[in-house]
Amino acid sequence: MCGIVGYIGKRQATGFLLDGLSKLEYRGYDSAGIAILEKDGPRVEKCMGRLDALRKKIEGRVPTGTVGIGHTRWATHGRPSDHNAHPHTDPTGKFVVVHNGIVENYLSLKEDMLAHGEQFSSETDTEVLAHLFANYYKGNMEDAVHRVLKTIRGSYSLAFMCAAEPDKIICTKKDNPLVVGLGKDENYIASDIPAIISSTRDTYIMNDGEIAIVTADGVKLTDLKGNPITKEIFKVNWNAEAAEKGGFEHFMLKEIYEQPKSIRDTMRGRVNGKTGKLNFTELNWNKDFLKDIHKIFIVACGTAYHAGIVGKCYIEQLAGIPVEVDIASEFRYRNPIVDKHTLTIVISQSGETSDTLAALREAKRLGSHTLGVTNVVGSAVGREADQVVYTYAGPEIAVASTKAYTTQLLVMLMLAIYMGNLKENLDSALSEDLVKGIVEIPELIHRQVESVDQIKVFARKYGSAEDAFFLGRGLDYAVALEGALKLKEISYIHAEAYAAGELKHGTLALIVQRVPVIVIATQEDIYDKTLSNIQEVKARDASVIAIGYEGDEKLAKYADHVIYIPRTGKYLAPLLSVLPLQLLAYYAALTRGCDVDKPRNLAKSVTVE
Ligand code: M6R
Repeated sequence: MCGIVGYIGKRQATGFLLDGLSKLEYRGYDSAGIAILEKDGPRVEKCMGRLDALRKKIEGRVPTGTVGIGHTRWATHGRPSDHNAHPHTDPTGKFVVVHNGIVENYLSLKEDMLAHGEQFSSETDTEVLAHLFANYYKGNMEDAVHRVLKTIRGSYSLAFMCAAEPDKIICTKKDNPLVVGLGKDENYIASDIPAIISSTRDTYIMNDGEIAIVTADGVKLTDLKGNPITKEIFKVNWNAEAAEKGGFEHFMLKEIYEQPKSIRDTMRGRVNGKTGKLNFTELNWNKDFLKDIHKIFIVACGTAYHAGIVGKCYIEQLAGIPVEVDIASEFRYRNPIVDKHTLTIVISQSGETSDTLAALREAKRLGSHTLGVTNVVGSAVGREADQVVYTYAGPEIAVASTKAYTTQLLVMLMLAIYMGNLKENLDSALSEDLVKGIVEIPELIHRQVESVDQIKVFARKYGSAEDAFFLGRGLDYAVALEGALKLKEISYIHAEAYAAGELKHGTLALIVQRVPVIVIATQEDIYDKTLSNIQEVKARDASVIAIGYEGDEKLAKYADHVIYIPRTGKYLAPLLSVLPLQLLAYYAALTRGCDVDKPRNLAKSVTVE
């Protein structure tokens, strides 16, 4: 979590940093700060709260200077406060650091420093870095940074600046993302591309253990020993507009509406609607490779984990390979039975989620073949997995994941079809039907998200509820999990998803008059069972909103309300049935006056354990 940004050039740095931080606020937003190298040294301005609070704080007394670093924070060590906000400095104020990550050994370092009489002004781990930087500085900033990196343990992306060498910013990373942007007579650093995309598309995506010495004229790259390294420039293939709200009130809404495009982009070059054929040129697996895979693990967190649960149904049913789905933070510590006959698929929008990355590394260590499914080219998952399949959702800024989820579902479905065909487990007519069905999905999504008025009414009607339940069976249950997460994440309504048949084993006790129960009923083979479950909750006076296919008149007889989705096949239904759930969560959050794009206590990218 946390976002860092830096500028060095001829422009005033403050404007650039504030603008960059506004694009990184999704990474953390409990405090913000900047440090600008003014004539007589670094001037730090920081405060608790959103970036706007910082803007107000410096109104009429904006720091002036052409070199600076900035930070937007998601608190780990020390509660949100002015003191704990970054940047941090040494006691002289001449050495400045911004940090995203955790310094694991900071306490012992701090105790040593305290024993030597050093004073601290925050509770953060990062302040220790500023002290180290100052203590190690003997006239050469690069040497001091090398020594800091040798001393600390943990995860970080870091930017250093000091009064004695005002012509440079030094940055580096381990386990947290960092990009260096290349401009003309100016250069930039950031945690993520949106912060710099309005100035450049030419970037270095930094790897662990690489250091960038960034000046206005150029960027020198070295390893941790100071040996020069060369790196390819990565040209970003999207523009600033893609990272803006584009007329929508929130990023989340924009991203919901972008799903036809993101689905189209993700299937492009992989499916052929005319022939019904599908391929993954990036994988070139064959029958023998899959014969050797006895089991698949899908590992992820949050929404990506929910996509994994759908993926399990797809792969088991279409490819006939057993699949286990694991929460990444569990997988990494539970000694999973993984070996060279397993394939571990990790799913991560950002490709930087700490637990997912650790799980990926653990799977590799145990000898598993690994496949990353990620949305961010150049991300850690993209670099470290043996093979990678990209979703092409475009930048997802809202904390609540929407378009990334549906592209993950699509990739899982395409992978299942690909594997089913290679294994000759999948009937060729079904395979063709599925591929042709996939091609029609963007248009169906478009139709679905346009019919939103009914959902706005439900959001108003049930927006004051304290609890909500989401039910479904099979693939519908997997989607219910995602619907419940969306609702609680942004509207703060307590929501739980249950396999519809499980409710009576305890949870039915919570079903009381008018509690909203959202039931997804698209899976025709178990449809009647789902109808019985609707009756069970109706008998306890719950208010049932059902999601079913257009033309399903039976459902209307059982439920209080029905949201209809276009009729499609069993496997494609999750790509449509999740849309009303995303919209319901969005409008419920609006009704309750919640900050949709920046829900409390959360951040987009969870790069701490
Ligand atoms: O970037 P990742 O896909 O690895 O992120 C995983 C989760 O943190 C993420 O999906 C989270 O659950 C979302 N906020 C849900 O909307």
